[in-house]
Amino acid sequence: MAIIIDGKQLAQQKKAELKNKVSAFSQKYGRNVTLAVVLIGNNPASQVYVRNKIKDCEEVGIKSLSYCLPEETTENQAVELVKSLAKDKSVDGIMVQLPLPKHINEEKVLSLIPSDKDVDGFSDENIGKLYKGKPTVVACTPYGVLQMIKSVNYKISGKNAVVLGRSNIVGKPMASLLLNENATVTICHSKTENLKEVCKSADILVVAIGKPNFVKADMVKNGAIVIDVGINRAETGLVGDVDFESVKKVAGYISPVPGGVGPMTRAMLLESAYNIAVKRENDGI
Ligand code: GUN
Repeated sequence: MAIIIDGKQLAQQKKAELKNKVSAFSQKYGRNVTLAVVLIGNNPASQVYVRNKIKDCEEVGIKSLSYCLPEETTENQAVELVKSLAKDKSVDGIMVQLPLPKHINEEKVLSLIPSDKDVDGFSDENIGKLYKGKPTVVACTPYGVLQMIKSVNYKISGKNAVVLGRSNIVGKPMASLLLNENATVTICHSKTENLKEVCKSADILVVAIGKPNFVKADMVKNGAIVIDVGINRAETGLVGDVDFESVKKVAGYISPVPGGVGPMTRAMLLESAYNIAVKRENDGI
């Protein structure tokens, strides 16, 4: 039976450490770590995420500036808001919650976030640095997943890692992170042939494809570490992309949904906001 990787507990631990660091930052520099959070429209999931992010900031002493704008917000208004936050020296990090309403060009708005305020690690520059193995801000979800794997002292170097999903937010940066840790990395997606066999070859399996209970026990190697990034809303509540009940019988380690990657993603956003603020002070911005 697999050991459960408790993301909720790990996130609590990270937040407690961060609270001390944030407080020391405020003492040292006489100002707060400040994160601007932008939400446009009525996506219910996004509204919950943003509310939680603001609550998390409060918990660790990060100042949050929230901008919740209506669905009818024009692209121009979104552009002007991000431009003003980019110029504002008191703002350390800018997070624009995705997805944006369809009439707003996401790429255009995100491109206005300066790389040194890009708390999500989405900018071309930050993605390029990650790809080249340079230190940088990394997207919160893959960054959290890596911490979860490391939390059980799992040796990543030399292992077969399979990432199921190739999104810019999770799959691709996750693959880069694992490659930087010297894993042998395969990225699978909807066109992958022999998906079951590829998954079964994984010592480390990270699943982010958005299909409820997709990964079954017969796709998992004995003793593998399985991290479930999926959040699917079913009638029974939240379910992941991994069939937890069957897979836990073959895996060595498994993360649950809820209580796995979600809380760690939230904790990593806070950590990245703090890291950005420290870097901005060190760079004299
Ligand atoms: N929407 C879903 N996940 C994320 C995330 O990590 N960052 C932002 N900005 N939007 C998201």
